[in-house]
Amino acid sequence: MIEINTLQEMNQWTQSKKKEGYNIGFVPTMGFLHEGHLSLIKRAQQKSDYIVMSVFVNPLQFGEGEDFQDYPRDKKRDKALAEKHGVDVFFYPRIEEMYPRPMSVSLNVHHGVDVLCGASRPGHFDGVATVVMKLFQIIQPDKAFFGMKDAQQVSVIQRMVNDFHFNIEIIPVEIIRENDGLAKSSRNVNLTISERKEAPKIYETIKKAKQLAKDKQMTSAAELELWTIEQLKVQLSGRIDYVQVLRFPDLTAIDKLEGKIILAVAVHYERARLIDNITWKQN
Ligand code: PAJ
Repeated sequence: MIEINTLQEMNQWTQSKKKEGYNIGFVPTMGFLHEGHLSLIKRAQQKSDYIVMSVFVNPLQFGEGEDFQDYPRDKKRDKALAEKHGVDVFFYPRIEEMYPRPMSVSLNVHHGVDVLCGASRPGHFDGVATVVMKLFQIIQPDKAFFGMKDAQQVSVIQRMVNDFHFNIEIIPVEIIRENDGLAKSSRNVNLTISERKEAPKIYETIKKAKQLAKDKQMTSAAELELWTIEQLKVQLSGRIDYVQVLRFPDLTAIDKLEGKIILAVAVHYERARLIDNITWKQN
């Protein structure tokens, strides 16, 4: 594995591999790698000749008062894990390299961001779309791998790729969980012991909700949302940010539960905000 820090070198590397006819898989991350990120590498390995992983904590996607400074970082460990799991290029640009001056043209995501995390984190997806577009331009991958943990991100990036005619295949990868069901996240380390203990209830509850829908015990989105909120409220000390049932991947509202559905949840704890979701096809 090699480490690359500059845009120019990164671009040259890609050009040379493409000239030789290889296809390149890309795994964008903000580092502090865990098994969720590693599963993206595994998937990339099955589908590409070379794998580029980027580690860059993107200031543009953090809002006022969010955890940009606090975001956990450990380059040495990330690099070792990436190498061990078969990454070919560890792309680790400095902030000055990615944003030499404030952006003069910005991306504004305006579909599917009035819901879920988009609604509670204004501007977040503008920052995500901007950095991902930059990374796509620099790395020029054939395929890019994104976790369903951030289902709204998958949806936003897929639309961006379509809107701007990128010739890049977006491959969603299923959520990786701890043994007790909590979705793996770099932010889990910021939970207190008691918060960590109750956090698996989030997944337990949305799993039950999905089953209720599948068994036709509930047939409307509103009813399912309400049931989920009630269940979470009595089990969690954290503050519920949202519980929403939407069509996936378009992220539009539904009344009756039918078609491809997402039930997504966000919960605020003292020093961490947890998100989770479950998707299914309702027959
Ligand atoms: P980050 O939060 O580091 O996540 C990097 C990738 O890992 C994302 O695609 C995310 O969905 C995936 N991931 C995280 N936890 C996962 C889990 N438990 N199971 C499966 N996949 C998981 O998402 C970002 O960084 C940034 O927004 C980024 C796309 C890099 C742009 O800055």
